[in-house]
Order: sequence, then structure tokens, then C-alpha cells
Amino acid sequence: MSFRIQPTPAARPNRCQLFGPGSRTALFAKMAASDADVINLDLEDSVAPSDKDSARANIIAATHDVDWGSKYLSVRINGLDTPFWYRDVVELLEQSSDRLDQIMIPKVGCAADVYAVDALVTSIEAAKGRKKRISFEVIIESAAGIAHVEEIAASSPRLQAMSLGAADFAASMGMSTTGIGGTQENYYMLHNGAQYWSDPWHWAQSAIVAACRTHGVLPVDGPFGDFSDDEGFRAQARRSATLGMVGKWAIHPKQVALANEVFTPSDAAVAEAREILEAMEAAKARGEGATVYKGRLVDIASIKQAEVIVRQSEMIAG
Ligand code: COA
Ligand code: MG
Repeated sequence: MSFRIQPTPAARPNRCQLFGPGSRTALFAKMAASDADVINLDLEDSVAPSDKDSARANIIAATHDVDWGSKYLSVRINGLDTPFWYRDVVELLEQSSDRLDQIMIPKVGCAADVYAVDALVTSIEAAKGRKKRISFEVIIESAAGIAHVEEIAASSPRLQAMSLGAADFAASMGMSTTGIGGTQENYYMLHNGAQYWSDPWHWAQSAIVAACRTHGVLPVDGPFGDFSDDEGFRAQARRSATLGMVGKWAIHPKQVALANEVFTPSDAAVAEAREILEAMEAAKARGEGATVYKGRLVDIASIKQAEVIVRQSEMIAG
């Protein structure tokens, strides 16, 4: 047992991150009116190279003109392997309003990638006397990213969230898939002639959750591309929630309600968690460290599990 206390991540809801291209200004007001906790205005892969400058200007204007309410407002910049990212950071930090909360750095491969952006952001914040300290989120979506996931999770005190980007990740890993997340047809076990599908994203998600929980960062599941498949989205999101992730991206507005549904603890789950806490209070009063709840063992560890659900529910309600 380490004496080091596990740090707590940022106490804000992050059940759904709704994406929209910075080049489609008609979507901004709709995004602001959505039920997503986090808004991701995109400068990266949903924006054509010829539109990068105008998309940047659109997003800067939207930090001044659009009423984003209580949403956490994040902008995805271009990757450090492009000629665009430095101008994204400089113009966003010099010209956007204090409404901007966060920058998302895609395709992070090592801690030094985050350090480079941090150095630039820190300098511009000081030069411009910006009042709000910008936070970071990163996307793990390459072989290097997953290989260095722990140093990335520890890379900057600005870092609040880390997502798995399934499509770029699959491409970088050389996986033979085309779907963005979800079940992959050829990833199955065979038993007595029957096929049993397994989850090719499982280990990457677990590695991300472990790195994030070690360093107080929110682990988030990325996109699910087939926005016509609600049950496929739910199944992917439920697996992510079970593994410890706190939310999921929406790449179409119809996915927002699905993510909120899965990542908001249900009334039944919260009620059961509270009953377990009560059962353990009663056990402790009797001088016992373990007791029986609905025919199964609960002990001191069960208190911590139940508290995860109750805390999440209270944070969302608050
Ligand atoms: N945010 C808010 N509203 C959106 C939206 C978004 N990301 N995408 C579409 N809408 C709106 C549409 O404007 C339309 O509104 P209306 O009913 O008032 O006309 C409604 O939702 C239905 O849209 P639909 O016609 O089904 O979608 P589309 O063809 O306009 O766009 C996508 C589909 C996938 C191209 C679009 O959703 C999109 O760009 N998503 C984000 C992509 C992205 O950012 N990717 C990067 C991260 S992987
Ligand atoms: Mg990507």
C-alpha cells in the first residue's frame, strides 16, 4: 500500500463532450443549447486545411459572442506535427475571451508534447494578463500515446482530462478495423462453434484509467462513429463506465442524451450505494468491519465503491 493519497480529479461533470467543426458556425448556438457538459469546438480533423484560419477566427469570435451558459468550453487545436498548432495556441490565448476554459491537445505522444504547449500558454497568459488559467485535455490516439500514457497523465498541473481516440489509435496501431469504436466483427473467441465477441479497446481504456486515476485526471471515452446505432453507443459507453471512465464524446447531437443517461448514476444505483453505506455504518457501530447486504459480503472496500457512486451523483446534481 502506497502512503501516497490518490489525487482527486477536477470536480466538474464531464459526462458528454459535444464536438463540432470550427468551420460550421451555424452549429455553435445549437451546441450551446445542448445538454452536453463540455463543448469541444474543433480546429483539427473536422476542419479542412484551407479552412483552418477562418475556423480559428470563428471560434475566437464565438468565445466573445455566444452564450455558452455553464458549459465547460474547450477548443481542440491541431497536432504538434502540423504547421497550424502554434498559431492556434497564440491566437486563442491572445484573442479569445475569458470564457475559454480549456485546450484539447490531440495525438499526444509523450509528456514533452504537453510541456511544449504549456510553455507557450504560460507565457501568453502572463503577457496578456489573462485572468483564467487555461486547463488542458489530451487525446491518446497513437501507439506512442498509449506506450507513454503514464508520463502524459503526469505531464502538467493544467491537465484535467484524457480521452481515447479510437479511430486514430486503431490506425496508428495498425489494427485492421474501419469502424470508430465499438464491436469489431473479427475480434471474437470461438467456443463449440459459437462466436463470442470481445472488446479490442479494453486494454487501452484500462491503461488510460489507471494512468488518470494515479494522477488525478478525468478518463474519458472518445467517439463512437455510427450515430445511427444507439444501442451500440450505449453498449460501448456502459463498458467504459464500468471500467472507470466518467464520460464519452458525442459527434452528433443525438448521442448527448445517451452519454448523459449512461454516465449519470441511476436512482436505483445511488439508493443501493446509500444502503450499503448505512449497512456499513451499522456494522461499524457493532464493531464489525464486514457485514451482509442482500445476501452478499460488504466490507470497508465496499464503502469506497459506494462513495464513488454517491459522490458522482452529488457532483452532477450540484
Ligand atoms: N452539434 C450541434 N448540432 C448539430 C451537430 C453538432 N455537432 N451536428 C448536427 N447538428 C444539428 C444539425 O444542424 C441539425 O439541426 P436542425 O435539426 O436544426 O437542422 C440536426 O443537428 C441534425 O443534424 P444532421 O442533419 O443529422 O447532421 P449533419 O448532416 O448536419 O451533420 C455531422 C452530421 C456528423 C457531419 C455533424 O454532426 C458533425 O460535424 N459532427 C461533429 C464532427 C466533429 O466535430 N468531429 C471531430 C471529432 S471526432
Ligand atoms: Mg483523432
